[in-house]
Amino acid sequence: MSRKARIAARFGAASPNYDAAAVLQKEAALRLARRVQTLTLPAAPRVLEVGCGTGHLTRALAPAIGGEWTVTDIAPAMVEECASRCAGAGVTARFAAMDGEHPDLSTGGFDLVVSSLAAQWFEDLPGALAAWSRLLAPGGCIALATLGHGSFAEWRAAHAEVGLAAATHEYPDAAGLARCFPPGMEVAITEEALTEPFAAPIEFLRRLRAIGADTPAAGTRPLSAGQLRRVMKALTRQGAASIGYRLLYATARRS
Ligand SMILES: C[S@@+](CC[C@H](N)C(=O)[O-])C[C@H]1O[C@@H](n2cnc3c(N)ncnc32)[C@H](O)[C@@H]1O
Repeated sequence: MSRKARIAARFGAASPNYDAAAVLQKEAALRLARRVQTLTLPAAPRVLEVGCGTGHLTRALAPAIGGEWTVTDIAPAMVEECASRCAGAGVTARFAAMDGEHPDLSTGGFDLVVSSLAAQWFEDLPGALAAWSRLLAPGGCIALATLGHGSFAEWRAAHAEVGLAAATHEYPDAAGLARCFPPGMEVAITEEALTEPFAAPIEFLRRLRAIGADTPAAGTRPLSAGQLRRVMKALTRQGAASIGYRLLYATARRS
């Protein structure tokens, strides 16, 4: 199974129980939704959402800005979950399973391509952003939330203390994310720290597993049970009571 198929399978399997554990993800989606509402958009924008999950962003933003929505995720089970929750909330959209890195759509002309906490899973973010920009109408915007450099610092420090490398991804800093956008777009990036508290270190891993976000970074291997115990003890020794996320919010307008 390819890494991408594994990512889709893990998120798909987690979809029925995602919301109970995805507290930080929901918060990030709500914050992105508020930022998007400050952008200048047409009265009834054509919107493409990538990596919808169960629809935290869809349900927060679609009623606020209206328009005609195409809502997608690589995991078909997530798309179904999102469609059913949106129907319950009175949000209408077209739903499709699709790899957001390689949008397979018959039409473009979107006023907004929006995505919350999906892009950190991409293999080629600059390639994806170039593809999204080609789908934009003139003056259209990309708005995304993704993870930035410094996320999971406590987790990485605990690994380093016991001589291991964390299987987390390498995330860009704000300048690095800005460089991922195609030339000619007006890009603005803001950064925000969010923390996810835990009563015991193992809760961090349990949450990642519960939301399906536990596919290790490319080229890394999951820890053995013994290694995991050493990392947990190091986190406890370091007195960590939370894991930090560095959220990057990017908006980019096609001129
Ligand atoms: C952490 S969840 C975020 C979901 C939702 N946006 C939220 O804020 O709760 C990441 C989502 O990205 C999706 N995803 C990962 N890689 C993707 C890709 N290449 N194309 C589209 N969706 C992808 C996953 O299936 C998952 O639903």
